[in-house]
Amino acid sequence: MQKIIIIGATSGIGRELSRLYAGAGHLVGATGRRQELLYSLVLEYPNHVETECFDATEKGMTAHLESLVEKLGGMDMLIYNAGWGEPAETLDWNIDKATVDINVNGFLEAIHFGWRYFLAQGHGHLVTTSSIASIRGNRVSPAYSASKSFQSVYFEGLHIKARKLGIPLYTTDVQPGFVDTNMAKGIRFWVAPADKAARQIKKAIEKKRWRVYITHRWWLIAKLFKWIPSWLYHRIG
Ligand SMILES: NC(=O)c1ccc[n+]([C@@H]2O[C@H](COP(=O)([O-])OP(=O)(O)OC[C@H]3O[C@@H](n4cnc5c(N)ncnc54)[C@H](OP(=O)(O)O)[C@@H]3O)[C@@H](O)[C@H]2O)c1
Repeated sequence: MQKIIIIGATSGIGRELSRLYAGAGHLVGATGRRQELLYSLVLEYPNHVETECFDATEKGMTAHLESLVEKLGGMDMLIYNAGWGEPAETLDWNIDKATVDINVNGFLEAIHFGWRYFLAQGHGHLVTTSSIASIRGNRVSPAYSASKSFQSVYFEGLHIKARKLGIPLYTTDVQPGFVDTNMAKGIRFWVAPADKAARQIKKAIEKKRWRVYITHRWWLIAKLFKWIPSWLYHRIG
């Protein structure tokens, strides 16, 4: 039985991941700002879910994570799944600031906490839910794609760092395309159900993949995004 903290477990991908892990007999430490949704998760899996309700953009996240580790009796995996972004035609300071607060600053604090803990313990697994949007700049949500790029590039660095340490410390950078959650409302193209996305993420984590595209066919789009020359991308982007 693994002890798994999922930051951003109240809805969408994080909630489905929590269900999968708790349903498989693991102990899940679920977080989010919506207390009632955390509570409903506990009702679903009374012996397999502990919770901590907090805003990952506010001061005190480390104390909340320490408290959750104590409730779980340890930690084997930390999944930073909390995230936000909003498309806008104009450059909106409030959107960009809020995006960076949760996708960069919150991410960094949580991942540092996990890294320190796993290093002291001698093993562990860090996971982040980045995005396929991390690959190129994006006209309607420049801060979102830049923030996810930060996560993915950071995780590649951590992956190399962990390998050099020669201890069983793993990292997985999850890059979803479109998943049917509140964040992808109104999108029709290649949208995967959240439970399917969660199953593929769990499998990739089990295989200790350093990066995975969700669903797998988004690998093709990732290739295309990387390959397409800037002069053409800038014209159609
Ligand atoms: N859906 C997609 O198509 C898609 C594609 C690529 C990447 N992603 C990424 O997947 C991750 C999960 O998103 P989702 O699609 O499952 O959407 P979602 O249902 O909106 O889930 C977002 C999760 O993040 C938590 N969260 C957001 N802001 C927070 C804050 N300030 N403090 C603490 N928790 C916060 C939310 O919990 P509370 O609201 O309860 O705080 C919720 O549990 C995100 O990182 C997103 O960027 C999604």
